[in-house]
Amino acid sequence: MKNIVYISTAVKLMHENQLLDILHNARLHNAALNISGVLLYSEGTFIQVLEGKDSVIDALYSRIQADQRHKNVIKLIDEPIAEKSFSQWLMGFTVTDSAKTEKLVGYLKSISDLDLNDGKGSAVAAIKTFIENNQLAVNS
Ligand SMILES: Cc1cc2nc3c(=O)[nH]c(=O)nc-3n(C[C@H](O)[C@H](O)[C@H](O)COP(=O)(O)O)c2cc1C
Repeated sequence: MKNIVYISTAVKLMHENQLLDILHNARLHNAALNISGVLLYSEGTFIQVLEGKDSVIDALYSRIQADQRHKNVIKLIDEPIAEKSFSQWLMGFTVTDSAKTEKLVGYLKSISDLDLNDGKGSAVAAIKTFIENNQLAVNS
């Protein structure tokens, strides 16, 4: 198993429906391939942790890199892991109408949703810092 963490810049500021579109597709795909992690978006910047089988993660990262919706994809971490830090795949971004995301599967409402194994590791640290620095509107 391995993880990859990257940051990237949206080509244009993303609308809520565009983010929801990524969420729907990614959630289904990642669940089918046993990929866990988290994708966060704030004001034009993405950060994503992907964890799973080496070949599966590398293949997905190649596809994501080629995605025209973002640019300047910079890999921060690429390392073998003994166990997963995230129990599922979730996506977090601030919405104007929280009623919309109330029952949305795959949407990160609260930090505790992340269900972090031991809360350690550089991937987890990167995510926590991004949430804090961007004051992402997820509840702690
Ligand atoms: C920031 C960002 C993160 C993405 N994360 C995922 C992901 O975790 N899983 C996934 O299947 N697709 C993700 N996508 C979508 C992929 O880039 C790609 O569109 C999708 O896998 C379909 O690939 P295909 O058109 O080659 O079939 C993401 C796209 C962006 C812009």
